[in-house]
Amino acid sequence: TLQQISTIADMRVHIQEARRQGKKIGIVPTMGFLHDGHMSLAKAAREKCDLVVMSIFVNPLQFGPNEDFERYPRDIERDRELAQSGGVDLLFTPEVTEMYPKPILTNISVSNVTELLCGKSRPGHFDGVATVVTKLFQIVQPDFAFFGQKDAQQVAVVTQMVFDLSMPVQIVPCPIIREADGLAMSSRNVYLSQEERSEALVLSRSLKQAEAWLAEGVALPEIQKRMIEMISAMPLASIEYVEVLRYPDLVPVEQPIPGESIIVALAVRFGKTRLIDNLITYV
Ligand code: PAJ
Repeated sequence: TLQQISTIADMRVHIQEARRQGKKIGIVPTMGFLHDGHMSLAKAAREKCDLVVMSIFVNPLQFGPNEDFERYPRDIERDRELAQSGGVDLLFTPEVTEMYPKPILTNISVSNVTELLCGKSRPGHFDGVATVVTKLFQIVQPDFAFFGQKDAQQVAVVTQMVFDLSMPVQIVPCPIIREADGLAMSSRNVYLSQEERSEALVLSRSLKQAEAWLAEGVALPEIQKRMIEMISAMPLASIEYVEVLRYPDLVPVEQPIPGESIIVALAVRFGKTRLIDNLITYV
């Protein structure tokens, strides 16, 4: 049964005991307001690990000054029930004052992979992610850490960080979970009005189209152009970026060499809500 833990000291006691018993520890870091995307990570962790830790922490370090830290949706009661039925053993729910009792002076910063896509419009965002993920890894000492491909750049950043700093944890990327109509699940989807939500379906539709164009051998800049046209046709959509890049190094190429992977990634605003989605495919 689920145990909720709110202090680092308490967490260390539980982790020490689990390690003494030789348990494989998995962590699913989240910011809560759980949905099936988060729960798919918990399921993957349950299958691979003996002790499943889920963290729920809305991390102020990764929000810009004009972003939604204050109004980020929160519902810890509901989250606790979902975590319990999703097979989570330890739910780590620290307050901001527990994680950052005084201003943090240490920063984990990954270069290159953070400088494009979401990193361009959200300066410092991935530093905030890398720093909190490092701190969570130090507290939980996981053998495995589960991340969704919904945030493909986040996976790239965390994988690079773990490699560079020889962190003893294996990153497990998990597929994007979507609503029945194709919209990628996100805690932020609750911000969308009915109109915005129905227009937002263009995102997954344009990615499906891109997949077909890739299979036909359409040049990558042309795919980008066509997607921008498709998305711009929606009156409420305002495009932040649409990029077609080689994956996982995120380098622009004209035409992929067969056997290479391509990521089609986008960030589009509908009203005040910023949505991201992507597709990774072998060519
Ligand atoms: P959050 O947005 O809550 O997401 C937590 C994890 O769930 C991330 O690994 C994310 O990629 C995954 N996820 C979200 N929606 C998904 C979907 N539709 N399908 C599959 N996986 C999905 O990402 C964060 O929190 C934070 O940056 C965090 C890593 C916790 C650091 O603060």
